[in-house]
Amino acid sequence: MDDFVGPPQCTLLPLNHGGCPIAGSEVDSDETLNDFLRKRLNLRGTKLMCKVGTCGTCIVAATASDHDGYRRTYSVNSCLLTILQCQDLEITTIEGIGDRQGYHPLQRTLAEYNGTQCGYCSPGWVMNMYSSLESNDYKMTQCEIENSFGSNNCRCTGYRPILDAFKSFASDAPKPKIIDIEDLKKCNKKCDPCDKDWCFIPDRDHEVKTIHLKDDKVWYRVFGVSDIFDIWRHEHESYMLVNGNTGRGILPIPEFPKVLIDISAVEVLKTHYLDQNLVIGAGVTLTSLIDIFKKTSEHYEDFSYLDKVCEHLDLVAHVPVRNIATIGGNLMLKHRDPVFPSDVFLLLEAIGAVITIASIDGTLVATPVDFLLIDMRKKIITNIKIPPLSRHFHFVSFKVMPRSQNAIAEINGAFLYELDSNEKTVKSARIVYGGLSDDFIHASKTETFLVGKDLFQNDTLQGALIILEKEIVAEEIKAMYSPEYRKKAALGIFYKGLLSLTPSKQLNERYASGARDLRKTRPLSKGTEVYDTNPILWPLNEPMPKLEALIQCSGEAKYVDDLQTQPKEVYCAFVTAKIFSGEFENVDPSPALILPGVIAFYSAKDIPGTNSFISETVTSYQREILLSDGKITFYDQPIGIIVAETEALAARAAELVKVTYTKAQRKPLLDIRDVMTEDPSRITLFLALPAREPPGADIDKVIKGTEDIFWQYHYTMETQSCVTRPNEDGIDVFPSSQFLDMSHLVVANVLNIEQSRVNVVIPRCGGAYGSKISRSGLIATACSLVTYLLNRPCRFIMDFQANMRIIGKRTPSHFEYEVAVSSDGEIQYLNYNIYDDLGYKQGDFIGFLLVSAMRNCYNNRRWNCNIYYAFTDTTPNTYARSPGSLEAIAMTEHVFERISYELDMDPIEVRSKNLKKEEKEIYQVLETLIKDSEYYKRKEEVEKFNKKNRWIKRGFRIATMSWPGPPMVDFHISLSVYHGDGSVIVKHGGIELGQGINTKVTQAIAFVFKIPISKIKCRPCESSSIPNNFTTAASRTTQSVGFGAIKCCQIILDRLSAVRVDGVEDPTWEQLIQAAYQQGVNLQASYHVTTADQEAHRSVGAAAAEVELDILTGESQILRVDIVEDVGTSLNPEIDVGQIEGAFVMGLGYWTSEEIKFNKDTGEIQNDLATSYHIPLAKDIPIDFRIKLLRNHNEIGTLGSRCVAEPAICLSVCVAFALKAAILSSREESGFPRNQWFKNDGPYTLEANVMHSEAKVEEFLYK
Ligand SMILES: Cc1cc2nc3c(=O)[nH]c(=O)nc-3n(C[C@H](O)[C@H](O)[C@H](O)COP(=O)(O)OP(=O)(O)OC[C@H]3O[C@@H](n4cnc5c(N)ncnc54)[C@H](O)[C@@H]3O)c2cc1C
Ligand code: FES
Ligand code: FES
Repeated sequence: MDDFVGPPQCTLLPLNHGGCPIAGSEVDSDETLNDFLRKRLNLRGTKLMCKVGTCGTCIVAATASDHDGYRRTYSVNSCLLTILQCQDLEITTIEGIGDRQGYHPLQRTLAEYNGTQCGYCSPGWVMNMYSSLESNDYKMTQCEIENSFGSNNCRCTGYRPILDAFKSFASDAPKPKIIDIEDLKKCNKKCDPCDKDWCFIPDRDHEVKTIHLKDDKVWYRVFGVSDIFDIWRHEHESYMLVNGNTGRGILPIPEFPKVLIDISAVEVLKTHYLDQNLVIGAGVTLTSLIDIFKKTSEHYEDFSYLDKVCEHLDLVAHVPVRNIATIGGNLMLKHRDPVFPSDVFLLLEAIGAVITIASIDGTLVATPVDFLLIDMRKKIITNIKIPPLSRHFHFVSFKVMPRSQNAIAEINGAFLYELDSNEKTVKSARIVYGGLSDDFIHASKTETFLVGKDLFQNDTLQGALIILEKEIVAEEIKAMYSPEYRKKAALGIFYKGLLSLTPSKQLNERYASGARDLRKTRPLSKGTEVYDTNPILWPLNEPMPKLEALIQCSGEAKYVDDLQTQPKEVYCAFVTAKIFSGEFENVDPSPALILPGVIAFYSAKDIPGTNSFISETVTSYQREILLSDGKITFYDQPIGIIVAETEALAARAAELVKVTYTKAQRKPLLDIRDVMTEDPSRITLFLALPAREPPGADIDKVIKGTEDIFWQYHYTMETQSCVTRPNEDGIDVFPSSQFLDMSHLVVANVLNIEQSRVNVVIPRCGGAYGSKISRSGLIATACSLVTYLLNRPCRFIMDFQANMRIIGKRTPSHFEYEVAVSSDGEIQYLNYNIYDDLGYKQGDFIGFLLVSAMRNCYNNRRWNCNIYYAFTDTTPNTYARSPGSLEAIAMTEHVFERISYELDMDPIEVRSKNLKKEEKEIYQVLETLIKDSEYYKRKEEVEKFNKKNRWIKRGFRIATMSWPGPPMVDFHISLSVYHGDGSVIVKHGGIELGQGINTKVTQAIAFVFKIPISKIKCRPCESSSIPNNFTTAASRTTQSVGFGAIKCCQIILDRLSAVRVDGVEDPTWEQLIQAAYQQGVNLQASYHVTTADQEAHRSVGAAAAEVELDILTGESQILRVDIVEDVGTSLNPEIDVGQIEGAFVMGLGYWTSEEIKFNKDTGEIQNDLATSYHIPLAKDIPIDFRIKLLRNHNEIGTLGSRCVAEPAICLSVCVAFALKAAILSSREESGFPRNQWFKNDGPYTLEANVMHSEAKVEEFLYK
């Protein structure tokens, strides 16, 4: 446990000769700055997750002199930079800006605004904000701040509080924070002066440095292009130039070549100057490029078009990547993989730039297109020449991407039209695309067609579109949307570009909206939170930040991988199956074992106990194989464990293990529809719930339909992790888990030792959302097995890819319905079949969760429901935030949407006809929503907007929710009061996942004991003192544990009631406790919460969403969301609002951008990187986000509070409904009947939006 405390250290780093604590020969070529900080310096405040520059957890500040000698601080992703690149950098980590000795204002503000939940992402946010303020001289507007966070993911908060916190530092904030800039700049803590010894004044002798690395590679640091040539003259082995080294984030490099040439110090590559052209060194970073373009466009008319280029560049990657990513590096990625839709390449090709390439033999100049054909071996890009363009040139470009920022283009296009002096006849045209195929770049035939034509005539436009449609070649590209969509979007952006250039008088106003680019025009977002709080009850019901908020924002909070590395510690990676079904015949680990540093390979044969990471002693769980014993049931099923001295080595070695298989001669059945058509025997009826009343007779319409919703990856920022260590007589296990008891049981079973020899400790989870209930057992058992067999500490941190491939996701559902309704929308009968895709076998048990949620807030007396299970060829699916209830409520709401369209009735009216009368809260919730959202007024406005606009459509819909909070049983609570000062320690069986359980429990104890919060501390859960607990899930644990804590308080208060303090009439708490101690009163109490202590109850809410959809690209934005939720008497309204926002935004991702893409032939997941799985980011949330908490007085639940953490995700389906409404509005204009329903399976992705809109190219007109 010592590892979880320990004072954090200060930062300033290092790596240069002089004060450098290491020599280059001690590092491998792929040792990142993050590895160095976390593993060598034990600075664990900086986190790590995706390793590809996408999640932002690893952001630190770098300070360096630019080539003018100006010191600049900027953010960088420490997972991308190798330590060898930090030569001239001074690095500041989260520890360096503040800690318990003095927190930085940014840390304090993020904590105060409740901008941290699980806290795993928080140091990255702070460091990005810190670096941005430093880079911008502490002058940033709110818009600039909001725009600068494309780099950071947060799966918990929904971003709103983080944005509010940081925007309070903006120069134009409504109530600007009056903080002395010097306070912001400075580290407030006292640094150990010896740390300063590490600061190093870079030597600039410009001598080539050569470092022979530990992994036998050679690192050269060069200062001139001629140095590179010199190396090329004598080095014949494979080499790689390295500049920002960010390319690995996009095109991973499994292993660096033998020779690495760091060109980041080559001055000539970093310069720029203006002769006739603007000449930019290839080593200029994208951040500098934007600055140079902005300045040049402001000062020189012929370069004014660069302003528009900058708008596009702002959508490339995100700030920390752009800070080190160079133009040359980007172009070379395109060269290496022409399918990569490089925005830089696209823009340069469209504006007619040329690339200068140098080699030992001389220099050549090529257009970007020609450059792709050049053999670049032993050649370097030295500069790019940007041409001046007269005012007759018109430039426009688009980047179509699945979320607002930080995503590779699905398709991008840049267009340059040169017009005659009449400003309409085309002299030349450049139509350039990316993302269509590996070689479709120019639409040459369309370019030729346009020459000599009047660009702004319908005939020209239609003629061009016909040619363009014929000439575009769109191919299947791994993990990207379908070629059909990409082709349609390519035509769409061509049209959008022209609309943006067309003089307004030549444009029908209805078409003008097509020119808008939602990615570039989103306004500043805002949010409001309304709740009441009763100060008489405080600290209960008091809005306050989480108690751990500060240590989370400062990086002091410890997660599993923050445990200090132990001597002889080893690392693991799973060897996984490369078939989806069959058997493996032979496993040969020898190619892996011969690598130096690879220690062992373990398979099922090495398991001393039961080969299962699930314990059947836990109700409803079935045994699940830890390591395959021969049979393969899904692609990437673990069949062995490689153990090595480093994590990277373990991962690399696992790929080398040779496995031979006999495989099933069929295609995998990946979803329920596959199963229904190919093998219905895999479907079983779980439960039939017949109607309680016969069908009504007033049948006006019978409607039938089906719908599918699919997987959702949990995307926990802390991946599945575990650390294990041998102890005196058994094993210490530190898993990131929501279910201590399960980890405890399965480790004992797998090792075949008594539970009493297994000590499990769980401090907190960096996100869980259901994925760490049963699945964490897989990693805990694997890690424990290694420790047990080797008698060495082991660390198993699953990387993003493995986590994505091996661990189950949200359970997909297929839904069939037949509903009969009266003319006023009342359901006469509903036959409702829901099928759950469990994967190859049942993992988490979901059926009962569906049963209670299905009815939602409606009267279901005439509903016949059947719940089926289907078995597919995938990994077992799991609980995911609001499991079962999200799916069931969404499907029920779907029926009401359908009825509303079919009967052409208002969606609220239809729902109101069918509400369950006894559920009083829903009436109040709906009434409040109608009033607060100005429902009827806005509905009309949306209709008017849609009449006026052809290409941007709006949708405005609602969803309701009645969420069943299941009773959660068996939690143990132990509470101790110290006699010395009356302070209180509580240990409970719940796990802090970010939901604020510790804070709420503390508030409850403080309320009952009537003592200050500061006197109470929650300690991490551990099996030795808090045994036999159920899982922390279903939003009920806080209530259960809170209930137990109150019981403990009451036990102690009962004992104290007999205690008298001599001579004191009205003793203080401290006096009373001291007296009790002296009188031998037991000041420790425990309580075990059981079902008898709980009442089932429901959380009720409703939401309205208004969205805007670009029919030509499928991109959308959420204009406004109103959520009204009845939370009873909230224990802590501030935390509850945060839970609602976070849950809703996680749901947004589910309904819009998050998709798992399988290879349909092999069953392999295609989009297994953070760069290809798109959760919502800060600019994807509602532009106007309003939350209102209602408070009913029905005192069910602990102290009258209701479940909050999960329910609101169910309301997010209103965004899908709103998008559907927008699509329907567009379809109506394309000739489809107004209310004709269309079926959309899965999320409303760009592809679904465009393809369902079915706009015809003939409709692409000016007038
Ligand atoms: C998270 C993330 C998001 C991204 N998003 C986008 C995006 O939206 N759009 C987009 O277009 N790009 C995107 N990128 C790509 C990014 O722009 C490139 O990674 C970056 O520009 C590469 O520059 P670098 O200096 O880091 O190159 P490095 O990684 O150092 O090098 C990349 C390759 O180029 C070679 N090389 C470098 N410089 C030269 C030179 N002067 N001459 C010859 N060869 C050279 C190297 O040898 C290497 O093979 C993204 C990258 C990341 C990590
Ligand atoms: S770990 Fe570096 S950005 Fe994700
Ligand atoms: S608080 Fe951001 S990921 Fe948990």
